[in-house]
Amino acid sequence: MSYAEARAIDASAIPVIDMQAPDLSAAMLGAAERTGFFYIRNAGVPQALIDEVFALSRRFFAAPLEAKRQAAVNPWHRGFIRAGEAKMADGARPDLKESFVWGLDTTAGSQPERGIPPNQWPAFLPELRPALTAYFDACNAVGWSLLRAFAGSIGAPADVFVRTIDRPISRGSIIYYPPQPPTMGAEQFGVSPHTDYGCLTLLYQDGVGGLQVQGPDGGWVTAHPIPGTFVVNVGDLLARWTNDRFKSTPHRVVNASGRERYSAAVFVDPNEDTEIEPVVAPGEAAKYGRVTASAYIKGRLDAAFAYRQPGRP
Ligand code: OGA
Ligand code: NI
Repeated sequence: MSYAEARAIDASAIPVIDMQAPDLSAAMLGAAERTGFFYIRNAGVPQALIDEVFALSRRFFAAPLEAKRQAAVNPWHRGFIRAGEAKMADGARPDLKESFVWGLDTTAGSQPERGIPPNQWPAFLPELRPALTAYFDACNAVGWSLLRAFAGSIGAPADVFVRTIDRPISRGSIIYYPPQPPTMGAEQFGVSPHTDYGCLTLLYQDGVGGLQVQGPDGGWVTAHPIPGTFVVNVGDLLARWTNDRFKSTPHRVVNASGRERYSAAVFVDPNEDTEIEPVVAPGEAAKYGRVTASAYIKGRLDAAFAYRQPGRP
């Protein structure tokens, strides 16, 4: 038995881009049109905040399952999601990952308020809330900057992707991957091959490694951790918004390190009622109709998670 195979990193498939570089937009456009993946350096999120999030993430996932389940995922996809909760393709093995999902921290109650679902904070780790809230705000700010640069790169108005972002439906997810021994075989994943649903994903990974991205030839490329960088990737909604000019590329995690792996993702999206209509070049036909951001994301979550019953919010 062994692991799913992947090649060493390929810098042309996943370039490292400096967010302060003068040619930022052009470099991002090249990456978006190829694989939709790039590393971003000098994003401006304080390393001390990132380190705090990872320290708290270790404490959260180290807690007993009963404690974590006090913050079990609610009907709006906020809270703790235990291993094996994603819907699998027939015969596929359940993913090994555990995660905790949160979003904009505006509602004090137990119902959504103007499109923003209630978060599901764990009582046993009160420090998590302020740290994840600060991290969420910092990553969203980076996301808006990148979306402005992307708009410029295709000659669209700078705010085309960020017109309505005062109450974003972005989601954060801290994720834990247990080590997977080779005896689990090549069909076992920490997270199975998938594309992300939203506009942009900002992923910070620890030094363990395990993220793999599908290259243009269909083979898998390892996106090794590069300290101080985020892995940024285009999600399905931004691919749709750009009429498939930008690529939303499958990726997966195989934790072959023998160690525990942690990552933190922020999936950046605008307000719930934002109308997403393909931005096209003159004379180009739109491949997709108009959809609201919330309808699109909700539809994807319903299809992906077993806990979500039909008719749920
Ligand atoms: C995801 C994802 C990769 C990772 O959560 O969508 O692809 O390294 N995560 O955790
Ligand atoms: Ni992903």
